[in-house]
Amino acid sequence: GVDVDLVVVGSGFFGLTVAERVAAEHGRKVLVIDRREHIGGNAYSEVDAETGIEVHRYGAHLFHTSNERVWEYANRFTEFTGYVHRVYTTHRGEVFPMPINLGTINQFFRSAYTPDQARALVREQAAELGGRTPENLDEQGVNLIGRPLYEAFIRDYTAKQWQTDPRELPASIISRLPVRYTYDNRYFNDTHEGLPVDGYTAWIERMADHPNIEVRLGTDFFDESQPVNKANVVGNVPVLYTGPVDRYFDNAEGDLSWRTLDFEREVLPVGDFQGTTVMNYPDADVPYTRIHEFRHFHPERDYVKDKTVIMREFSRFAERGDEPYYPINTATDRERLLAYRELAKGEKDVLFGGRLGTYQYLDMHMAIGAALSMVDNKLTPHFEGGAGLA
Ligand code: FDA
Repeated sequence: GVDVDLVVVGSGFFGLTVAERVAAEHGRKVLVIDRREHIGGNAYSEVDAETGIEVHRYGAHLFHTSNERVWEYANRFTEFTGYVHRVYTTHRGEVFPMPINLGTINQFFRSAYTPDQARALVREQAAELGGRTPENLDEQGVNLIGRPLYEAFIRDYTAKQWQTDPRELPASIISRLPVRYTYDNRYFNDTHEGLPVDGYTAWIERMADHPNIEVRLGTDFFDESQPVNKANVVGNVPVLYTGPVDRYFDNAEGDLSWRTLDFEREVLPVGDFQGTTVMNYPDADVPYTRIHEFRHFHPERDYVKDKTVIMREFSRFAERGDEPYYPINTATDRERLLAYRELAKGEKDVLFGGRLGTYQYLDMHMAIGAALSMVDNKLTPHFEGGAGLA
């Protein structure tokens, strides 16, 4: 038997937040399993052995939130630096600030427009379709910000992200393209922003560090040779499942589609490669979408001065066996998701949560917020009031 009060499948922020609350607030025993060899899900980071630089293995992770409850909760486990995220983009050998703002516009058009002049210019260029409804992503982009800015900064970048011509992508992929008519190029608008002072993994480990929590890594929920797996747990012990919802049901309603990323990491013998954390490459003749340089996430740290770690990011459709990163959310996906939700309702004492369990992109603060709500709405009534789970 499995002698715990809750089994949590997946040690990302969703699973760990629930595990921590159930263990610390309700004094219950929780077993957390993860099929990977480390905890933290995609927020996991590691120290590069050659340089000592903290690397976000699954891509840049920026913490930002306007949710006071989430901010207070996160601060129980880590302090945050004053890091403020800014992104630049290299288009035809020239560097521009992102997201598109007055600085981008004036540099691109070699002018000194005021905010009102720039607004009028973009409005005029965006009127190209003459009121016709955009039929694909390409037309949508022109309709939102005008052809020159769209073609320079969005079209080929989007084509690389989707490996598909934007004329063949649905307009619905982008509902808005924010343009700022100020020189503000701060990436996030949230009240709170920063990076964990001693790294993501230290933060995540402190969440799991409780006598009522046991973590088992390298343990796949569907591997029946493992002592804890779906077949012997479901129906006997309450489960929170944060893995892919389609996989839980043996893909009975079809696969949900995802985009994945490939990362190429390299140590370079220079003190500073690009002068910033994230540089986008929106042009078609560059195969990657962006380059991350990890030393710049922590300018306050005393890192080596003669080496740096960079990571090139490539984007493509995920196949079975790839890491699912961003839900594609086609009409077929949405139908299948509804079918899986119906199946999920029939699973007694199994809760589905997180990015993979609900098939939606969640930032870290959203995952933490949603997990705290699940504790309020389901787990507290269950453990304190004897209510059923699902
Ligand atoms: P998450 O994916 O983190 O964890 C799920 C866990 O379940 C994984 O560890 C997985 O191994 C495990 N699992 C799956 N199947 C299993 C099975 N069968 N058995 C056992 N375990 C199983 N957020 C943000 O705030 N700022 C940012 O900048 C970014 N950047 C970013 C970049 C990229 C490329 C991605 C994909 C995501 C981000 N995020 C982010 C989001 C963040 O990484 C994370 O996805 C959210 O915090 C959601 O966490 P979850 O716990 O829901 O999923």
